[in-house]
Amino acid sequence: MRERWAARPSAQDARTSTANLPLPFPNCARGDFRYSSGEALHASFLQSSHSLHGYSPNKPIHPMPSSHLSRRRFLTQTAGVAAATVLGPNLLLRGQNTAGRRLNIAVIGASGKGAVDTSKVALDHNIVALVDVDSTRLATAAKSLEKKYVDIGDTTQQAPRLYADFRKMFDEMANGIDAVIVSTPDHTHYVAAMWALKHKKHVAVQKPLCNSIWEIRDLHRAAKEAGVMTQMGNQGRTMEGQRFAKEWIDQGAIGTLQEIRLWTNRPIWPQGPLTKVAAEKPANLDWDLWLSVEPTEPYFEFEVPSNQPQPKRGKSVAPFNWRGWWQFGSGALGDMGCHIMDASFSILGQAIPEKIEVESSPISDLNAPVWTRLRYHFAATDKHPALVVSWHDGLGDDGKPNKPERDPRVPQEAFDKATSGMMFIGTDGVVFEPDAYCEHPVIFPEERFTDVKKEMVGGKIKQTEKRSPMPDNPQGEWAHYIVHPDKGVPSSNFDYAAPLAEFVSLGNLAIRSKEAIQWDAKAGKVTNVEAANRFVKRASYRSGWI
Ligand SMILES: NC(=O)c1ccc[n+]([C@@H]2O[C@H](COP(=O)([O-])OP(=O)(O)OC[C@H]3O[C@@H](n4cnc5c(N)ncnc54)[C@H](O)[C@@H]3O)[C@@H](O)[C@H]2O)c1
Repeated sequence: MRERWAARPSAQDARTSTANLPLPFPNCARGDFRYSSGEALHASFLQSSHSLHGYSPNKPIHPMPSSHLSRRRFLTQTAGVAAATVLGPNLLLRGQNTAGRRLNIAVIGASGKGAVDTSKVALDHNIVALVDVDSTRLATAAKSLEKKYVDIGDTTQQAPRLYADFRKMFDEMANGIDAVIVSTPDHTHYVAAMWALKHKKHVAVQKPLCNSIWEIRDLHRAAKEAGVMTQMGNQGRTMEGQRFAKEWIDQGAIGTLQEIRLWTNRPIWPQGPLTKVAAEKPANLDWDLWLSVEPTEPYFEFEVPSNQPQPKRGKSVAPFNWRGWWQFGSGALGDMGCHIMDASFSILGQAIPEKIEVESSPISDLNAPVWTRLRYHFAATDKHPALVVSWHDGLGDDGKPNKPERDPRVPQEAFDKATSGMMFIGTDGVVFEPDAYCEHPVIFPEERFTDVKKEMVGGKIKQTEKRSPMPDNPQGEWAHYIVHPDKGVPSSNFDYAAPLAEFVSLGNLAIRSKEAIQWDAKAGKVTNVEAANRFVKRASYRSGWI
């Protein structure tokens, strides 16, 4: 029976209103200064970046297909039920006339971040399948998707098909899927994305792309061969703040760039050597599918040493706590590096470091450390001298945040408040970002920032970086370019994202090697510590998965 939903204009208003969004700079009114080209800085951030690229946030980019079926009850569908539905045409190849079409998108890892990623595309596209190995979380994800449509009064959407095993989904309905979002724990990114690529589907994969450098490189290779649109889920790359920081530094706003200091308060989940303990598997979790490529082992939970903070999200690796386990996650560095190192990677011309020095708290073969200090060494380029990007994470042995030394030009209060952040240290000033995404960078000293703003207005500092049509929405941006391939490529497509993820992951090679490593990017090898090369690739892949 068809259900009637009342339209709720407030949901639409919430999608389109920019009135309450934060300003990228403190102490200035909305839209109060402009690049010399006449483009308002704030307006371009808050409003016109959409219209600049022909995208209006007020309406979906594609009209609904006329053949769309009426809605069925979402939760009456079960995994593997045959699809006696019309799933719409397949829009695979770039260069096809795809304008005006809604994509058919499948989401692998439907709960957790996957639910957020789904919501980023659900209003403009068709979510045709949700996959999750936890039946409770899968049902919740389906329900929240249904609610999203109810809230905006959309009575036309049909229910997605629900699966526990993405391989079954591809076997049964690959022809009805255009594009796939992968938002599983890190160890499953490679295999899920490779299944999508084998079927020539566009892929958006959460950061850090994969949890081994070999997988990052191989996925990049396979995506190129498939010729599809790709995106990594590092949302900072779609934001305007990161572009401001690059334009300022490229055009001399802080003089010569000398050093970059990065930090985060992660891990906020258990790391350091942990002990596995046998435990009863929750009935709703398909543990074998969760392990996917990793060797079969009985379900386990873990003990945290009594002198460490006890876990806030239970003692199971699934969900969320897998981050601290080398097999499944990538530690604090892998979790936050693709965000916090992103602006550095862009500003340094997408270079790969030559040498990485490391200090960390104890690790084990299973677990990442509680705190880390890394120094990534970059060779000189025609733009910048040789310099070091340092990384600090976690809580130090003294229980205090493990942060880098503050540049004296950054006010103490601003520095203390920043639980994650970036300092781009130049001879004439510091670009300071008080969070992980480079969304709201500022320059210190303040007088220098005042001058830089005048230089932007006067035309001395120019806008050189292309803006994203969908800031803070990497999945929406990716779908937008699939439909409009003539307009460009996603901000963090794999040509950009794979080397960024490699830059980040090199830190984990150093952490696991427990000594400084030298990296030959061409050969894809550590040159000074042969033993470190065993961490470049996953030890083994269970049969049936790749
Ligand atoms: N961009 C961001 O800001 C951001 C934020 C959080 C997480 N993430 C990334 O998103 C991904 C997921 O993180 P999370 O915090 O949601 O983890 P999570 O463990 O909370 O959720 C992952 C979901 O995937 C499901 N899953 C696990 N294995 C699966 C498989 N083989 N097939 C289908 N579903 C499977 C789980 O049951 C769970 O519902 C990670 O890669 C993480 O790094 C990104």
